[in-house]
Amino acid sequence: MLKIKGLKAGVEDNNILKGIDLQVNKGEIHAIMGPNGSGKSTLSSVIAGKEEYEVEGGSIEFDGTSIMDLSPEERAHLGIFLSFQYPVEIPGVSVSNFIKTSINETRKAKGLEPMPAGELLKLMREKMELLDIKKGFLSRSLNQGFSGGEKKRNEIFQLATLAPKLAILDETDSGLDIDALKIVANGINKLRTPENATIVITHYQRLLDYIVPDFVHVLYNGRIVKSGTKELAFELEAKGYDWIIKEVEEQCI
Ligand SMILES: Nc1ncnc2c1ncn2[C@@H]1O[C@H](COP(=O)(O)OP(=O)(O)O)[C@@H](O)[C@H]1O
Ligand SMILES: [Mg+2]
Repeated sequence: MLKIKGLKAGVEDNNILKGIDLQVNKGEIHAIMGPNGSGKSTLSSVIAGKEEYEVEGGSIEFDGTSIMDLSPEERAHLGIFLSFQYPVEIPGVSVSNFIKTSINETRKAKGLEPMPAGELLKLMREKMELLDIKKGFLSRSLNQGFSGGEKKRNEIFQLATLAPKLAILDETDSGLDIDALKIVANGINKLRTPENATIVITHYQRLLDYIVPDFVHVLYNGRIVKSGTKELAFELEAKGYDWIIKEVEEQCI
């Protein structure tokens, strides 16, 4: 589904990603971990096509074709979803309206008519039930006065209704309490199908107590320095990042 080769990217003179290789197949959950400042958010932004980063080399293919020249919107319409790290508050726009707009934008890009109201309602109800979302939530103003957990609920709800092929969830370290963490993890587990894939970016090993990733990658200083299975996450939890950093530095000498 996603094939990244030798990806180098940065901002002006600052090289952030220094050659990333990553392959994500459908049905898989990948966790990308690493200390702060290692380039995790940059990687997700570059996959999503955010224009603030300059790609200096390498390739990104999605379903067999290069997406390097596509805008963020075009990538989204192909089925790449990137969660917001800092969700915006939009007074006057309800959760349900926001979901409706997101769904219909995607349909429009595919040349489809807006989803009929009845169908939309059915879809929302189905996903609300799946994710344990209370009815009043739909009429709340987007992110206004939302707790950390509610913001995450909204994000996972959006993910459930849009059903992208590839979800990239960049989980910041701050403000994620254990409830919010569980909402994200449960959502990912429940939305998993053999046809979709998820990349969870996290600084916290704790998130992985609730999601079992198929692969774990450690990003450090713009490179994936170690890849493995969930055992790697346990090892990281026990030994901390210093252990890998030391190993990498020894290899460089
Ligand atoms: N827009 C930007 N402008 C300048 N420097 C940036 C920008 N985005 C990221 N960086 C730098 O790139 C490095 C990696 O950042 P980031 O991808 O946010 O790391 P992480 O998500 O792993 O904490 C950091 O040193 C950060 O300061
Ligand atoms: Mg980050």
